[in-house]
Amino acid sequence: MSVVWDLGNWTPAWRLDSHQTTFRSSGTAHTMYGRQAGGANQAGVSNSTTTSGGNSGAGGGQGHDKMKIGFCTDLDKSVLVNNFEKRGWHQVNGDDDWHFYWAGVQTCRNIFSVDSGYRMHDNQMINHFPNHYELSRKDLLVKNIKRYRKDLERDGNPLAEKTESNNSSGTRYLYLDFVPTTFVLPADYNMFVEEYRKFPLSTWIMKPCGKSQGAGIFLINKLSKLKKWSREAKGPFHPQIAKESYVISRYIDNPLLIGGKKFDLRLYVLVASFRPLKAYLFKQGFCRFCTVKYDTSVTELDNMYVHLTNVSVQKHGGEYNTLHGGKWSVQNLALYLEGTRGKEVTDRLFGAISWLIVHSLRAVAPVMASDRHCFECYGYDIIIDNALKPWLVEVNASPSLTSTTVNDRILKYKLIDNILSVVLPPDGVPDVRWNKVPSADALGNFELLIDEELAAQDEQHQNSSNNAHTKTSKMGSRWK
Ligand SMILES: Nc1ncnc2c1ncn2[C@@H]1O[C@H](COP(=O)(O)OP(=O)(O)O)[C@@H](O)[C@H]1O
Ligand SMILES: [Mg+2]
Repeated sequence: MSVVWDLGNWTPAWRLDSHQTTFRSSGTAHTMYGRQAGGANQAGVSNSTTTSGGNSGAGGGQGHDKMKIGFCTDLDKSVLVNNFEKRGWHQVNGDDDWHFYWAGVQTCRNIFSVDSGYRMHDNQMINHFPNHYELSRKDLLVKNIKRYRKDLERDGNPLAEKTESNNSSGTRYLYLDFVPTTFVLPADYNMFVEEYRKFPLSTWIMKPCGKSQGAGIFLINKLSKLKKWSREAKGPFHPQIAKESYVISRYIDNPLLIGGKKFDLRLYVLVASFRPLKAYLFKQGFCRFCTVKYDTSVTELDNMYVHLTNVSVQKHGGEYNTLHGGKWSVQNLALYLEGTRGKEVTDRLFGAISWLIVHSLRAVAPVMASDRHCFECYGYDIIIDNALKPWLVEVNASPSLTSTTVNDRILKYKLIDNILSVVLPPDGVPDVRWNKVPSADALGNFELLIDEELAAQDEQHQNSSNNAHTKTSKMGSRWK
């Protein structure tokens, strides 16, 4: 790879606006390239009036005047259906002629399987990439990131620079060290034991690759516990566990605590295309808190209310608060951190979060089937440690659309509305021939993380003239 990455230019992706209630984009609007160039925009205002064909509204809708949009979904979620119906779409079956499918991952895989023989036409869109599991399976995510770092290292890319070796922690990647050390079991058992012996005081977390919502997870701090588990798993009572693969990751045992409690971040990342990479970050993510105070003592190792931040786990605890659901907005977190740690480190943290998201996506981009009919909204789980370093824990391809509180419902409704505005052309009719460059208005609460196509155009433009496009060149160079 020949591009030299600008490591110094970590413009923080999120800034508080003057009311300190919503985040505003740090000036990366790219209306210049959109079909609706030049619209005045206001952060946080979504294109909620986008309608389907038959309405001569925004963007013209040439050729689509009479088109009625048929949507299909196998998820019975009101935040989805209400959004579709608001746009004047009507519900159809998967066997009918649909234009927009919000499918479960299995349905999506079936549609794309060779056996189905299904061929999508230009006016169809679906909410998953066929092999999203390259990012969303815990083992494959780590495998792809390891490969990505190795490739960069082999090419002599400065991004793959490592720290000097020191005896306590060995060498580490300086810029790409954002996933906890992880091994796949049983395949990498010997490598794990070697690592375990180097750091005998570490705690490790075992997670089944094919499960979610905290199911099947446990912590270990002794090899003997792992051996015991392995023996039992092979026994007659757990034949299914024996077949399942697990990841074992270094447990981040120094999480940032607020009110003495551990939390993680749930952030939504929309990918409109993997090649070229076009990705957006939803500015209204949230923190998910544990209900019980953090405690690293061995006696609490099995207490999942202390260690796992999943709402699906915490809601069964006696301390669970149904009003706020153990959630805090990312805006609140930023305010809290600015107050307690200062603005500079807070900005750096959010810059580092955007950085890790972009590089996790770059790591899988070469192996993703970047079908133009697809987009996907990922739920990123990120833990911040007490040195304010973010760690990527996992990526979900079907983040929960269940609403646990009123605020949650508002947020998720807005999320779906904004996703639709970003992935659909300005006239609201699915069309794979569209260049996937939404106007600044259409972004709503999404902020551009990266658009490789725009960045390349920008670079070309800069090369061919000295008349710099300040706005777009900033965006293009941020992730170079
Ligand atoms: N390496 C880790 N260090 C500390 N906590 C972790 C780690 N991995 C996972 N967790 C905690 O466990 C929770 C569940 O893990 P995750 O990988 O997200 O699996 P699941 O698919 O079950 O949600 C996370 O939300 C986080 O609170
Ligand atoms: Mg999770």
